[in-house]
Amino acid sequence: MENKASQPVVIVIFGATGDLNWRKITPALFNLYLDHWMPDQFSIIGTGRNEMSDHDFKEKLLDGVNRYSRKGKADAQQWEAFSNHMQYQVADVTDPKAFEQLAVTINKLENSWTQAPIVIFYMAVASNFFPIIAEHLKENKLAEYAERTRIVIEKPFGYDLDSARTLNQLLCKVFDEKQIYRIDHYLGKETVQNIMAFRFANSILEPIWNRNYIQHVQISVSEQMGIGSRGSYYEGSGALRDMVQNHVLQLLCLIAMETPINFNADEVRNRKVDVLRSMRPFKGEDIKRNAVRGQYSSGWVEGQQVPGYREEGNVDPASNTETFAALKFFIDNWRWDGVPFYVRTGKRMHQSASVISIQFRDVPHKVFPDDAIDNWRQNRLVISIQPEMSIRLQVQAKRPGLAMVLNTVDMVFNYEGTYSDETPEAYETLLLDTMEGDQTLFMRGDQVEAAWELLMPVLQSWESKPSLDFPNYSADSWGPELAEALIARDGFHWFALPPAIKKG
Ligand code: BG6
Repeated sequence: MENKASQPVVIVIFGATGDLNWRKITPALFNLYLDHWMPDQFSIIGTGRNEMSDHDFKEKLLDGVNRYSRKGKADAQQWEAFSNHMQYQVADVTDPKAFEQLAVTINKLENSWTQAPIVIFYMAVASNFFPIIAEHLKENKLAEYAERTRIVIEKPFGYDLDSARTLNQLLCKVFDEKQIYRIDHYLGKETVQNIMAFRFANSILEPIWNRNYIQHVQISVSEQMGIGSRGSYYEGSGALRDMVQNHVLQLLCLIAMETPINFNADEVRNRKVDVLRSMRPFKGEDIKRNAVRGQYSSGWVEGQQVPGYREEGNVDPASNTETFAALKFFIDNWRWDGVPFYVRTGKRMHQSASVISIQFRDVPHKVFPDDAIDNWRQNRLVISIQPEMSIRLQVQAKRPGLAMVLNTVDMVFNYEGTYSDETPEAYETLLLDTMEGDQTLFMRGDQVEAAWELLMPVLQSWESKPSLDFPNYSADSWGPELAEALIARDGFHWFALPPAIKKG
């Protein structure tokens, strides 16, 4: 299959010796190469602070590919052919000279090619370096061509509303919004992209996708892992900043957004921003009632003893950082008025799964005798993002037999049984979209700010009033009891996450 674009591409990765490039970026670029998505003329320039030969740089990245690529170990010849397009350059991003050198390298490449390349600057560095890198790129005229120069920014995008605004303003002095690709890797996930296809390509859904038919929505993004070696990052972050401000709210936007006029990046993002702007702000007492925080204690996970959050490396033994958050949101618009959206996310939970459940209202009148409906359950649509990739519609059906007995059955669309195609990694999709100039799956500046704005009262309240009951949930649990109370008050409960579908 010939997929490749013809325009040459230069990808400059700042922080190329770091974890992100090792685990995600290079394995994704290599897969794009193997699947014939890379143009014939492309060059990857990795930069980092430490001296390293091209050879050692490539070896390190090959190790990352072998460990983390969904395609498994690299074929030696294919890796050789791909890595011929790679080079390493020592660059201290605070030193202007590094950028002069970079400009020379890029110019040389441009002159050797027949067509001007797309130039992508990938910021795989801590966010405090973004502004200085942007400045130096400008000084060296490396950001001149708005049509073909792009910058990729990893999260966290800011630390709070003010810092996100400042960062947006700084970046926008050098780049046009059209050149800025803010990554939220959830948006690149196959199942997440499918939410829009599912909602807007099926006429049966729109008439029922509103407050008249939907009783409430649940979004659970739970992880079995603890924070591992990321203590110093996580201490300054917590679940609200790390997961809710971005991934979870983006999922919510996809479920709640109005139909875009078309599939243009800005049309889609306009509709998502509308959701964030319609969300009811948290005020005073709401925070206590509608936002719950948790922190994991030590425990056992699959037979292994695991430390509590406060015992993890680079974590304050009296830390107030939350590793779990559950919130209840309302969207004040015609479609969703009065429909609660419950979200929860946490580390060291019982099961790793990202699932969205849409609970429909009950039938207005039950015609069946009581003993036929012992197992009655309202209709529910369950969208499993990961690890299972499926959409299930749960309906009532008659159990085979002489008596009228109803039970709940699942109508299942399961990726595994439906498609034999491989599922690309989120980073493959996002890198290809960057090369192709499609911003649909990237966060626009106003989206990021609107998400921060919504969460600021909760962040401020949690920071100003340290939790007195931390740690308040044990490893391998479903989070603190207060999270159960948050939803139970409305007469609901967190749904069990779907079991994996067996093959065959
Ligand atoms: C990252 C967070 O953005 O997403 C991590 O910083 C989290 O803390 C990760 O573990 C989850 O991503 P995924 O793709 O594994 O669900």
